[in-house]
Amino acid sequence: MSMSKCHQLSLFVCKQQKNLRMMSTLWGSVQQGPPDAILGVTEAFKRDKNPQKINLGAGAYRDDNGKPYVLPSVIQAENLLAKKNLDKEYAPISGIADFCNEAIQLALSSESPIIKNKYYASVQSISGTGALRVGAEFLTRYAPLKTIWVPIPTWGNHNQIFKFSGLEVKTYRYYDPKTCGLDFAGMVEDLSSAPSGSVVLLHACAHNPTGVDPKPEQWKELSALFKSKGLFPFFDMAYQGFASGNVDQDACAVRSFLSDGHQIALAQSFSKNMGLYGERVGLFSLTTLDKDEADRIVSQLKIIVRGMYSNPPIHGARIVSEILSNPQLMDQWLVEVKGMADRIISVRYQLKELLDKEGSTKNWEHITDQIGMFCYTGLSKDQVKKLIDQHSVYLTNDGRISMAGVTSKNVGYLASAMHKVTST
Ligand SMILES: Cc1ncc(COP(=O)(O)O)c(C=O)c1O
Repeated sequence: MSMSKCHQLSLFVCKQQKNLRMMSTLWGSVQQGPPDAILGVTEAFKRDKNPQKINLGAGAYRDDNGKPYVLPSVIQAENLLAKKNLDKEYAPISGIADFCNEAIQLALSSESPIIKNKYYASVQSISGTGALRVGAEFLTRYAPLKTIWVPIPTWGNHNQIFKFSGLEVKTYRYYDPKTCGLDFAGMVEDLSSAPSGSVVLLHACAHNPTGVDPKPEQWKELSALFKSKGLFPFFDMAYQGFASGNVDQDACAVRSFLSDGHQIALAQSFSKNMGLYGERVGLFSLTTLDKDEADRIVSQLKIIVRGMYSNPPIHGARIVSEILSNPQLMDQWLVEVKGMADRIISVRYQLKELLDKEGSTKNWEHITDQIGMFCYTGLSKDQVKKLIDQHSVYLTNDGRISMAGVTSKNVGYLASAMHKVTST
């Protein structure tokens, strides 16, 4: 190689190296983000060698052997779908129409005038999280006030979903640590101070992380308050059927607001009640005053969806649609979702009873008063640390345990560990 070619080559290499350096300095200021609070718990659990270890961090249902549960109705629906030889074309931007109509009907009931008149604007979403995000994007563009009120505490992701969409997040009192129950007076006082036009996030049932829900008469009072103050309810319904075991009972808050004449926003998820976690099936809906308003809103929701992910995945929505439209599969699913809810309710009673048997003098009433996947134990940070370090029972810092991870086999060990850390 001549000297000049050699020189040119080394110049080229130098330039490439400089480019690479520039690329690395371009992101040099990016800091390591904190690990996700819940996934961090699972990582620590995996590293633990104790054979008696229990993971009560993750919010996913487990059967009584602690194993993930694929619902038989889901397997049957998949078998039926396989026989249909369906193609894998894109879904429409707003999702699979049958799925959207059946899912909103599950929430509102076939008797609802909104369903009968089609006074709703719905788009299929990337599960409950995606429904909240699409809804938040819509509210950022069209709500009179760009403020959303969320309960303290709330599902951790609510805050970032709403902030990332450009909404200002404010909080209202919800949980009373003294009673491990609802601070209804605090909730009413805080929401009374919210300016008219504010959006308020409500957990429709099985509040995450506390498991504390308002009673039907308290929902009625809240509905009247929302009316008088001009507040807009955004219901997050991630657990329909999973709380009480009855899909209609769990929809009572949503239905009671609608029967009082509210327009609502609604985020639905089929992660928990059909065990379709990884399939990412959900729905975002707004109820409307008429069909024309519904069509206009859907057109705007489609613009939002197109810019975020073009169109939603098809497989999970086909499963849900198959189940909800087939009376025999639907009946079977209703039994299965009740089975999951009943197992959770039953381990709540077992845990409380075993704590009493251990000789605990603490009041554990809230374990059975709370509902749904989670129990907010009321354990302090220090007690949580002891549970993890001394007993290999893994849970989030706030004392929340996923009841779905408690089984007839590990409940005794859990009760004994909880008693030990609360009695010293
Ligand atoms: C209150 C609440 N909303 C929404 C979701 C969303 O879940 P997904 O995106 O899996 O449907 C969850 C899941 O834990 C939840 O607890």
